Amino acid sequence: MKICVMPGDGIGREIVAQAMRVLDKVAAKHGRACETTEALIGGCAIDATGVPLPADTVAKCKDSDAVLLGAVGGPKWDTIDPAIRPEKGLLGIRKELKLFANLRPATLFKQLTEACYLRPDIVARGLDVMVVRELTGGIYFGEPRFDGMQDGERFGFNTMVYREHEIRRIARVAFEAARKRSSRVCSVDKANVLDVSRVWREVVIDEHARNYEDIELSHMYVDNAAMQLVRDPSQFDVMVTGNLFGDILSDEAAAITGSIGMLPSASLGEANPGLFEPIHGSAPDIAGQDKANPLATILSVSMMLRHSFAMAEEADCIESAVEQALEQGYRTGDIMQPGCRLVGCTEMAEAVLANI
Ligand code: NAI
Ligand code: MG
Repeated sequence: MKICVMPGDGIGREIVAQAMRVLDKVAAKHGRACETTEALIGGCAIDATGVPLPADTVAKCKDSDAVLLGAVGGPKWDTIDPAIRPEKGLLGIRKELKLFANLRPATLFKQLTEACYLRPDIVARGLDVMVVRELTGGIYFGEPRFDGMQDGERFGFNTMVYREHEIRRIARVAFEAARKRSSRVCSVDKANVLDVSRVWREVVIDEHARNYEDIELSHMYVDNAAMQLVRDPSQFDVMVTGNLFGDILSDEAAAITGSIGMLPSASLGEANPGLFEPIHGSAPDIAGQDKANPLATILSVSMMLRHSFAMAEEADCIESAVEQALEQGYRTGDIMQPGCRLVGCTEMAEAVLANI
């Protein structure tokens, strides 16, 4: 495994260091060789080179099989020229690696049900949803776009564009993900109103009929999906949708679990390298204090093993080690519950290591 590691800013350095210890241990246990190289991205890259995504970083990522990212940004760079903000590094690397699929599992470990915002009887039915969001198309990138004046008043528009090949490839990612889960995909659109959504739905149906008849496919309008996600998330396994709807639904799915420090993500392209990162940011308020929850990053390593290296056994090993650490009562501040043991970033990772 050739992995490019980008700790980034704030808590990024702490959580990535701990996640790499977990990767090394699980690789050693399963007799896998792992070669890593480190690269700069975000604020630390601006400080060192003047830009958030140095050419050397892009080259190192492209030369790897997978990329592990911590987080970027922080108050130090908030007043900087918007053209070279730390976040530009993130958008830039997604584009450079052509990462069109964003996978965000929203899972609630049973040990953390009290952290969840939903009613206990709803949670009891299960909260384990994977949102697959198209990441490089749709209304965020569609042309034409406009921001200006017309007939003496402010006027603006964007265009939602999807082409068949873009829909087909994201649908495939969702169907493949579903095969490794509960074999159910719900495609979310607004086909009752939007023409582009009717194209979306037709292509998803066609791809399903051609290659994925073993998967149970359903369709839902996005407004209803937003409601159903909080009303009864147990009805969903994999949800697949476009860029805009996916941005909103993936945040909603993550938020209902109640624990930002627990959730990993994967951004995938047609081929490796994929990019794996926690969904949270650089948490400047707790950076450098060994307080950050490393589990989202550790679970991102597990997603990396599963998606970039087809190492399901190794991925399962990490996930059950995390679950055991929670079962043993280890908690960082963000997921602390009465009667549990408050630990820091290092000690949490050590609990996971001990369970591998
Ligand atoms: P944030 O996710 O960094 O923090 C929000 C809150 O959650 C804070 O109170 C923080 O302490 C807590 N938190 C986050 N991760 C945690 C963890 N692993 N363990 C324990 N507590 C955790 O979001 P915020 O504060 O809006 O942004 C801070 C900086 O991060 C900004 O510069 C923002 O632009 C950047 N950011 C970067 C992202 C990325 O690199 N993918 C994503 C989101 C924000
Ligand atoms: Mg978002």
